[in-house]
Amino acid sequence: MADAFRNAIVKPGAWLLCSRGAWISGEVDIMLRIGLAGLGFMGRIHLKNFLAHPQARVVALADEDADRRAGRFGDLQGNLDEDVAALRIQPERSFADFRDLCEADGIDAVAICLPTDLHEEAAARALRAGKHVFCEKPMALAPDQGRGMLEAAADSGKTLMIGHCLRFWPEYLAVEKVLRSGEYGRPLAASFVRCGAAPRWGHRQWFHRAQRSGGAVLDLHIHDADLCVWWWGRPESISAGGAYVDGNPNIVHSRWRYADGLSAQFESAWEAAGAAPFYYGFKITLERATLLLDSRNANGLQLATDKGVERIEVEKVSAYTAQDNYFLDCLAAGKPVDRCPPEQSLATLECVCEEARQMAGARGGGR
Ligand SMILES: NC(=O)c1ccc[n+]([C@@H]2O[C@H](COP(=O)([O-])OP(=O)(O)OC[C@H]3O[C@@H](n4cnc5c(N)ncnc54)[C@H](O)[C@@H]3O)[C@@H](O)[C@H]2O)c1
Repeated sequence: MADAFRNAIVKPGAWLLCSRGAWISGEVDIMLRIGLAGLGFMGRIHLKNFLAHPQARVVALADEDADRRAGRFGDLQGNLDEDVAALRIQPERSFADFRDLCEADGIDAVAICLPTDLHEEAAARALRAGKHVFCEKPMALAPDQGRGMLEAAADSGKTLMIGHCLRFWPEYLAVEKVLRSGEYGRPLAASFVRCGAAPRWGHRQWFHRAQRSGGAVLDLHIHDADLCVWWWGRPESISAGGAYVDGNPNIVHSRWRYADGLSAQFESAWEAAGAAPFYYGFKITLERATLLLDSRNANGLQLATDKGVERIEVEKVSAYTAQDNYFLDCLAAGKPVDRCPPEQSLATLECVCEEARQMAGARGGGR
């Protein structure tokens, strides 16, 4: 909170408690100074959100690519329907080396959108330099790296949030509401699917090198794994297999069991075929209802009961914008990031790393 007050602009007519404990009049307008490291596909989406937030100012950018750090994004590709094509920015400061941005003065929060193998170093440097950190998922490539990030956050007293965007996705929020209501009984079983071609846009093809991305098990499957950690916590047991594609653990078949008997199963894939379509969905069986979502049809989120099938209408909003606004709003208000706590992100990382370990142990199929 003290940090936020450092950048407070006090408007006439309201009240602010100053650092010496006295009340002064004025409306508090916190302005957070943001640095963004990594200006590829995700970096540009976050940049657009930060530029639009009334209490944030993007003061520094870092990327190896000189065009991108100068705010020119002509060549960017990705697989999301986010309108970022027209984005233009002339940053006050820019750095080729993300380390320089993480340690620069005059920045309150750093958003890390670098390839995954750089997350731990960037996050730890920024936290230890006294900055709040938003870091894209996956948190890191190994649990000990994730633990290091949590330690750096605890030592510095700064906020760390990992971008598990499905926690802000309208359909998954609607599921959470149904689950928490208990109206249809307890969950008995859940299955999740998330498949498509491996990303082709990554900087120097980093997604295709498991030592940089972790393959689909860490990069893609982690989305559904985090849903289960969010809704039901850590499973009692994990059993994972699948196949490698071009040396990467990219076809994931996994099953989690919970102490109360709940069974969750997952299929996640980065297909070998470059034209393989992307789709995702789930089926969640409760005692008295089934929740369904399949991105391949237009039915949206469905709730089936004995009485029939109803569509649960959800707001059409960008989960990335909601997520980024939540992070900035928490910083401005001095509140913890309870909707996406880093301890849970670490639990999710531990689960997917266990799956990766089992896949490596059972490696047989694939090429
Ligand atoms: N939440 C989601 O839905 C989602 C979707 C895609 C990617 N991601 C995650 O976001 C992160 C970034 O992925 P992306 O798709 O934006 O990748 P990308 O390759 O498009 O972007 C990475 C950027 O980092 C820059 N970079 C790489 N190494 C650098 C270095 N040493 N110093 C400075 N700049 C460097 C590159 O020039 C590039 O602009 C990854 O962790 C990825 O898993 C999340």
